[in-house]
This record gives sequence, structure tokens and C-alpha cells, in this order.
Amino acid sequence: MAPRGAHWPAPKRRRLVRRVAVVVAAAFLVACSGGFVPGLGELMSLQQMRHAKLWFAGRDQNWPLADYELDELQEGFDDVVKFHPTHKDAPLPLSEVVPKIMGKPIGDLRAAIRAHEPRAFVASYDALTAGCNACHQATNFGFNVVRRPPGALWYGNQSFPPPAAGD
Ligand code: HEC
Repeated sequence: MAPRGAHWPAPKRRRLVRRVAVVVAAAFLVACSGGFVPGLGELMSLQQMRHAKLWFAGRDQNWPLADYELDELQEGFDDVVKFHPTHKDAPLPLSEVVPKIMGKPIGDLRAAIRAHEPRAFVASYDALTAGCNACHQATNFGFNVVRRPPGALWYGNQSFPPPAAGD
């Protein structure tokens, strides 16, 4: 039996293979060249994760982990401003709203974490959460309310207390 495609002359088959290779390479280049822009909803879902982990780390006084999660949260907001400087429902550009609302609570949290201060951590964490909700209201997204996570059932695969010496 003749092999599949044998009715195509070889040069034509080679041309087709070359064309497919060029299309695949072009798609790869577009994907690698920063063509991908994460949606605001995607960025926010990551912020939700960091917000939860930050709470567990601070609650369990794992200060290096809390510091790390706060860095990630800050970087997430940097991405919000970079990729979505404006939003259709926001009265002011997000590039202004984000630093205005989140700047102080993030600074206070940083200070509490660096000072290993559990009470200041809780107060500034609650102020941060109020900031998240204030921005949701300002962007007509007030039906989306965030809060302190009530338990560590999410992310149960991660240990939040500081590892014991020698671990
Ligand atoms: C710039 C103002 C702003 C700030 C600050 C902000 N959000 Fe959002 N958030 C939004 C907007 C706008 C959306 C809707 C995005 C969309 O889907 O287009 C959103 C969506 C969300 C969602 C829904 C995502 C989903 O797909 O289910 C969560 C969860 C969320 N934010 C958590 C947070 C947390 C936690 C913080 C604070 C650490 C925060 N947000 C701070 C504006 C903000």
C-alpha cells in the first residue's frame, strides 16, 4: 500500500512542512516577545493568594515568609499599574489609585514585619484589606469583598510557622 500523502509530489510536501515550521516558529516568537498581557482578573487572583498567605505567615510569626509575600504583593500591584494603567470603571487612572490606596498600608505592614510586631501586623493587615475593598468600590466592583482568611484550609500543602531549627 502506498504511504499516506504519497500522491503529493515530494517538493510540495517539503514546502508544506516548511510553511508549518515557519508558522509554529512565528507563534513561539510572539509568545516569547511579551505579547502576553495578563488580565486584571488574573493578576487579582494572584493578589488574593498572596493576601491569604501573608496573613498565615504573619499570624504564625514567620517574618521572612511574611516579608516575601509582601514583596510579591507589591510586585503584583506593580504589574497591575504596568499592564492596566487605566480601567473602564475607575474614575481615576489605576496608576494613581493603586499607590494612593495601597501605599500606606503596604509601608506600615513592611515596618510591622521588620519589627516582628504581631499587633502592628494585624492592624496594618486589616488596613490593607480595607484598601483592597475601597478600590473594589471605586472601580464599581464593590460586590467583591475580601477579608482575613478564617482558616489555613486553603494552601494546606504549605507550612506557615517558621521551620524549627535544624529542619
Ligand atoms: C486598582 C484597585 C484595586 C486594588 C487596589 C485591588 N483590587 Fe482587586 N480588583 C479590582 C478590579 C477592578 C477587579 C475586577 C477585575 C476584572 O475582572 O476585570 C478586581 C478583582 C479582584 C478579585 C476577583 C478575581 C476573580 O477573578 O475572582 C479578587 C479576589 C481581588 N480583586 C482581590 C484583591 C485583593 C486581595 C486586593 C488587596 C490586596 C485587591 N484586590 C486590591 C481592583 C482592585
